[in-house]
Amino acid sequence: MHQLMLTAEENAVLLPWLTELAATHGTIENPELLRRAPVLAYALPPRLLEFLEEYRRNEPSAVCLISGLDVDERTLGPTPEHWRNTQHGSTALPQEIFFMLCAARLGDVFGWSTQQDGRIMHDVLPIKGHEHYELGSNSLQHLSWHTEDAFHPCRGDYVSLMCLKNPDDAATMVCDAGSLDWSALDVDALFESVFTQMPDNSHLPQNTAESTGDPAQDRLRKRSFELIRSWNENPVQRPVLFGDRHDPYMALDPYHMKQEDWSERSLNAFRELCEQVEKNMQDLVLRPGDIAFIDNFRAVHGRRSFQPRYDGSDRWLKRLNITRNIRGSRAWRPSAGDPVIY
Ligand SMILES: [Fe+2]
Repeated sequence: MHQLMLTAEENAVLLPWLTELAATHGTIENPELLRRAPVLAYALPPRLLEFLEEYRRNEPSAVCLISGLDVDERTLGPTPEHWRNTQHGSTALPQEIFFMLCAARLGDVFGWSTQQDGRIMHDVLPIKGHEHYELGSNSLQHLSWHTEDAFHPCRGDYVSLMCLKNPDDAATMVCDAGSLDWSALDVDALFESVFTQMPDNSHLPQNTAESTGDPAQDRLRKRSFELIRSWNENPVQRPVLFGDRHDPYMALDPYHMKQEDWSERSLNAFRELCEQVEKNMQDLVLRPGDIAFIDNFRAVHGRRSFQPRYDGSDRWLKRLNITRNIRGSRAWRPSAGDPVIY
């Protein structure tokens, strides 16, 4: 793992600056803050900038962990019961800004109109009623391992998590492509465009507010939901591996894949890959103040089950999606500077 621990001195310099930025911008969803983030990020400690650049450029590991950011759990207040409206009056705004500035050095942060009402920074917390649902807000059931948004052509290069609370040490699971024995797998079969990937539950209309409040955005989002419905009815066939055949990138979400029409060779190659992924899955227990960037090309991730508390002390993470090719989604966004994919 690519790892860096912030020092007390770095925290002492960072936190007053972050607190000032928080007071100026009010919420992490402030478009002005989003616009400024890539420039503000240059003021992060040079040691941290070099560390992030090494991860971005050379891919030394699928996971990049920054630890030691000061988080005072007593001043955070109760874990929200739902992600709705958590962007207002956030007690963790200085930490959220730090997270966003680090992310801005890896690429462009973006949101989905079909997820958490189009917000850029998501909340990951257990939601009552979702305990056994295949969704990040579940708890009693494992969140099956996957590539983030595997079904979508605009999926991110990185999915990243910042931990605010994790009282029972619920583990994030990560498998690094670098730990797999590719010579033992049928890589050529896995490069073929024959694997049917379905949209995942997180993009369904029932998990999103009925209206954005803006008729033009509502129209775009309706189109997107229709497209997702059409992908459900006529699944797209794609490869699960791409890039270098000796050290491939991956894109798969087995829970949302339909295996009925695959050839025996494809099926065997896929099963062997899944077996290797499971054998090489590592637990990553995030502590408050930890930020993990997960390379969405080089790793799949999931989460082990845990007992939710629903008393305000629950596990609480923030999540950002990051792309290195924001223009790849231009057809899906209303304007060049709009970071939300419809
Ligand atoms: Fe995920």
